[in-house]
Amino acid sequence: MDRFVPVKIALGQKPLGIWGSLQAARNNVLSLIPEIATRQPIVSGKVGVRWHMVMDPTALRRILRDNLQNYPKSTVTKELLRPAIGESLFIAEGPHWKWQRQAAAPVFTHRNISNLAPIMTRAAAAATERIVQHTGRAVDLYSEMMDTTFDVISDVTFSNSDGFDRKELFKMIDTYIDSTAKVSILDILGAPSWVPRPSRAMIGSDIRRIKSIADRAIASHKANKHGEAADLLDLLEAGEDPDTKRRMTRPELRDNLLAFIVAGHETTALTLSWALYLLSHDKDAQNRARDEINAATGDGPIGAEHLDKLPFVRAVIDEALRLYPPAAFVSRTALGPDRLCDRNVTAGDTVMLPFYALHRSHLYWDDPDNFRPQRFMKPNKIERFTYLPFGDGPRICIGASFALQEAVIILATLLKRFAFTAVARKNPEPVMILTLRPKGGVWVHVDKI
Ligand code: HEM
Repeated sequence: MDRFVPVKIALGQKPLGIWGSLQAARNNVLSLIPEIATRQPIVSGKVGVRWHMVMDPTALRRILRDNLQNYPKSTVTKELLRPAIGESLFIAEGPHWKWQRQAAAPVFTHRNISNLAPIMTRAAAAATERIVQHTGRAVDLYSEMMDTTFDVISDVTFSNSDGFDRKELFKMIDTYIDSTAKVSILDILGAPSWVPRPSRAMIGSDIRRIKSIADRAIASHKANKHGEAADLLDLLEAGEDPDTKRRMTRPELRDNLLAFIVAGHETTALTLSWALYLLSHDKDAQNRARDEINAATGDGPIGAEHLDKLPFVRAVIDEALRLYPPAAFVSRTALGPDRLCDRNVTAGDTVMLPFYALHRSHLYWDDPDNFRPQRFMKPNKIERFTYLPFGDGPRICIGASFALQEAVIILATLLKRFAFTAVARKNPEPVMILTLRPKGGVWVHVDKI
């Protein structure tokens, strides 16, 4: 049998000029990354502004940790997201970022995340009930996983709010992400202002509607609270600035909850979808994971108490995040001069962190394009700053443990009930639209165990 090679993006053979870049970016922003980025620590160029793609672990540490204040999130990222998520934790800088990060930190402690596990277990059971209707056939697991992580995030953000349409809110948020993504590609590249932008699909009134639905949900949540387990909103409300004891205002709470949804819903669905795609091609890995799950969890549902006993399932998730990091690259704007990999960076340069290329770099990984989850069975063997699905440094993803717990619970629940087999000639195409999505869906044949 031929060895399975996971789908990958055809990276460019050389950095593209402005027109080439615009053409490429229209289809898939990741095709802007030259192939050489998987063999070199840094690649620089100029398309409008000067840019650097950085894959060197020492330079990444400098950007994300040691010289963080010189590398704020890129102006473009902020301008695009600010209308929807305000000056929330995700885009704020300096003291305004810091106090929000400290206020939100208790929300994501190990204990609080473990307490939210039953919501994840419930969503996994609901997914099982839906998928079981389609056994013996091919199912688009990407669409299933979007529904499943939707159940989780909407239950943990607005657990007992009623009188509003959650589905509508999430649909509007997804549309917003799509419309911003199309514009951002041109801007991240630094395309001059005369290059026509696609019109923004979302106008101010839609954004106002997102906010007003979320405001109503928060108000109804407060009115309905009768001592149930704390959800993210309760925890965020209780968070305070350790110095001033200031708490979040209602609009700040709303913007941060919306930021959690934007940052956490689709990314986790993608992780699961790519993991299922990979496993559907690898029966050995699937059987190994299933044996582990059966040994660790017996007959009952899978919850937080089983996580430590599922290292291989976790390794599959880690490997899916390596091959298909949902945040496949992030970008920064240099505030002042610096040096990275012996190269001058000047104020205003765009600094791109293409995690997709870093994770497939021949400099840091053996057999980088292949699915080998066992490489994560000894996690301390992975060199720091060579694996960054959640970023690193002070601005590392605040929801990382939440997402990993959710992904392991859902994946293990599905593997316990179903066998997954790839459908011939129906491979997803990895396409980056703000996040790294499987274009065409993840069609997998599902059988009951
Ligand atoms: C597998 C799922 C996820 C992935 C791959 C992911 C990835 C990332 C990455 C790469 C960053 C850093 C961005 C940068 O430095 O420019 C980030 C930041 C962030 N993420 Fe996640 N994320 C995931 C899930 C979540 C979840 C579930 C939540 C919340 C419930 C969340 C909330 C946030 C927030 C608020 C930030 C900004 C943190 C700060 O700037 O202090 N993420 N995420």
